[in-house]
Amino acid sequence: MQAMLYRRYGGPEVLRLETVAEPAPGPDDVQVQVHAASLNAADAYLLKGEPALLRLSSGLRGPKRPILGADIAGRVVAVGGRVTQFQPGDAVYGDLSGFGFGGFAEYVCAPERALALKPERLSFEQAAAVPLAGVTALQALRGGGPVTAGQQVLVHGASGGVGTFAVQLARSFGATVTAVCSTRKVELARSLGADHVVDYTQEDFTQSDRRYDLILVVNGSRPLTAYRRALRPGGCCVVAGGAIPQILTATLLGPALSLAWGVSVRNVLAQPSQTDLTFLSGLLEAGEVVPVVDRCFPLRELPEALRYRAAGLASGKVVITMEHTGG
Ligand SMILES: NC(=O)c1ccc[n+]([C@@H]2O[C@H](COP(=O)([O-])OP(=O)(O)OC[C@H]3O[C@@H](n4cnc5c(N)ncnc54)[C@H](OP(=O)(O)O)[C@@H]3O)[C@@H](O)[C@H]2O)c1
Repeated sequence: MQAMLYRRYGGPEVLRLETVAEPAPGPDDVQVQVHAASLNAADAYLLKGEPALLRLSSGLRGPKRPILGADIAGRVVAVGGRVTQFQPGDAVYGDLSGFGFGGFAEYVCAPERALALKPERLSFEQAAAVPLAGVTALQALRGGGPVTAGQQVLVHGASGGVGTFAVQLARSFGATVTAVCSTRKVELARSLGADHVVDYTQEDFTQSDRRYDLILVVNGSRPLTAYRRALRPGGCCVVAGGAIPQILTATLLGPALSLAWGVSVRNVLAQPSQTDLTFLSGLLEAGEVVPVVDRCFPLRELPEALRYRAAGLASGKVVITMEHTGG
């Protein structure tokens, strides 16, 4: 099969299209013919091997697992003897970040708990855009307790992979949603159902009088003190991504800051979850949440796709498609 491999850490230029053996399913595995895969921040971090601590698990001298790609959508071609949930021919999607990655290839094997049936109304390209970003958005929104109707929720970094799901999910839970993004993505944020959109190049939401029950930090680099100012008493700031200092502060000092400030501050590290993915499937099937695919690239153009994403040009997700020319 064809796959994109990296044999050393570096930029997109270290990736090579190679012909390698198809992975064979173990007794608990599902073998999937990948039709589409999507890019996530995790792929860029692993490719570079940065932050350096990451190499403790990804390989000290070089990458232990040479094929990146967490999010996949495709068709089941074979199943191991102990697999009960899927059979050959099923269209599936899933997040392999907890199971060795490997999605930037024509075939991949994964345990069945990494997968769910693909919502029928989604194309493979749309489905590949969902698992990691969608589940992260869901778990982050729940990180402050359940989002309830009438709550004021602000999503900082609303126009990327995680943010576009977070805006739609918060809306579907009945919250009043404020999306923070750059000028050229304002219309996108409105189209996703945001009640208010703040263009961060024009306005600093932490300086306005509006207060929020939940601030979900997906991107951006404001200090936690600024978010605190924009929270209602008893509100919650959940940090999922963005600048490293704010992530570290929320992780290490979140409990102490929560006690001192009378609001809750926490970091969320999302975990792949078949239950959460299946929950999303229901909303996707109902059309309440729609994946935002900015652009598709063929597998051989993965380096260009990574550069495009890193430039911050994408609205929503960047997707890789497989050609399956045989073999
Ligand atoms: N905690 C977890 O488990 C977890 C899981 C997945 C991802 N993450 C993290 O979450 C973050 C977002 O991931 P993603 O997949 O959504 O990335 P993405 O698709 O690349 O989205 C990035 C978006 O952030 C926006 N942005 C960039 N600079 C900004 C700024 N200064 N202020 C506000 N928005 C800004 C950009 O939109 P504009 O052009 O509108 O600025 C861009 O569309 C990353 O830091 C990633 O590492 C965490």
